Amino acid sequence: MLAKEIIKQIVFLIPFIRNFYIKKRVANGSIIPLEKLEDTLYKADKVVLKNNENPNICVGIVKDGYEYEGYVSNRAYYPKYEKFLKNNNISYEYYDIYRHDWLEKAKKFDVIVWHTNSDPATQDIATNKIYVLDKLMNKKCLPSFDEIWTYEDKVNAHYLYQHFNLPEIPTFVSHSKEDALEYAEKAKYPIISKLNTGSASFGVNKIANKRQAIKLINQAFSSKGAKTYFQFQRQKDYILFQEFISDATYDLRIMVTGDKLFGYYRYPKKGDFKASGAGNVVKKAIEPKALDLAFKVKELFKANFLATDLLFSEKLNQYFIIESSIFIGIDTAEQLKINEVPGFYQRIKKGEYEFVEGKYWVQEFALKETIKNI
Ligand SMILES: Nc1ncnc2c1ncn2[C@@H]1O[C@H](COP(=O)(O)OP(=O)(O)O)[C@@H](O)[C@H]1O
Ligand SMILES: [Mg+2]
Repeated sequence: MLAKEIIKQIVFLIPFIRNFYIKKRVANGSIIPLEKLEDTLYKADKVVLKNNENPNICVGIVKDGYEYEGYVSNRAYYPKYEKFLKNNNISYEYYDIYRHDWLEKAKKFDVIVWHTNSDPATQDIATNKIYVLDKLMNKKCLPSFDEIWTYEDKVNAHYLYQHFNLPEIPTFVSHSKEDALEYAEKAKYPIISKLNTGSASFGVNKIANKRQAIKLINQAFSSKGAKTYFQFQRQKDYILFQEFISDATYDLRIMVTGDKLFGYYRYPKKGDFKASGAGNVVKKAIEPKALDLAFKVKELFKANFLATDLLFSEKLNQYFIIESSIFIGIDTAEQLKINEVPGFYQRIKKGEYEFVEGKYWVQEFALKETIKNI
């Protein structure tokens, strides 16, 4: 991996190759030249605060999604936040939270917004800095400390599901080797093992039998820990096992922000059970029972935006929570489509939702939720 990265860097010094690669990525839409950014943003409707909500504040935006000079990732969140602030006449500045003077610089802001990368190193930096900003300096943060605490952290999310009696996939988390070995002894195989942090199904594995489970437990509780797909981090002193839901055919992602809901279905590739990252997305209607559950999780997680992923077991006739995330990969302003018409579900009350047509960046709604009560 490291060698590959070095080769890539060297190859990139050759202008011809670099330009070819950048062109290819612009063509497939994964990066956007900065001068084309506005066009992309305004393919979606504006999100505006009501007049009496318009706060006199200064927002610090941490930039994300930087790719190459003059280009930004189409998944970057900051341009959508910026669009919202411009349209609502709210003042803002870019804020480099990674520098040594982040704390001093934070003083001038009332609100700080930061789409954190999903790797464990960034999570560590973000959780600790947001603790200071949110809890000690009383800054309004997106994400707040409560929000970041479960992000890319399947163990912490499990604690909340358990505490609030939410229907997660039956999950076993332990920091005791003895306890984990007891579980391995009694489990009904196959089971699923997950890393605390992971996306696109990296770090999710099927454990076929007791021998494999014991091997993983021995590695995880060894002095070095078990290897993960992050070069800089190992699975150390914890185990996250789940029952394998064998009759799940899809992963249903439902995004909730305020009382608006979006979502889509993801299907695994043939012969695999993992839908996340497989790239087979289908946008269609979602039943109220699933919307209710995702809404409940968002409320209990105290989040301004939360995507909760569900699977459905036909046998048990039940939705189970796979995981929840405050940030997800967002490629378009069409995060819900019914019969090819983009829009969102407006929640009326439990069990009752109304489809509203329109194209929106969900990030704008999330920021609106965050600052509407300032
Ligand atoms: N316990 C389980 N039983 C059956 N399938 C599962 C289970 N947990 C996850 N999956 C499948 O694996 C995929 C990846 O799991 P997930 O926990 O969502 O990891 P990631 O964070 O990488 O998306 C899901 O999209 C789902 O299709
Ligand atoms: Mg997932």
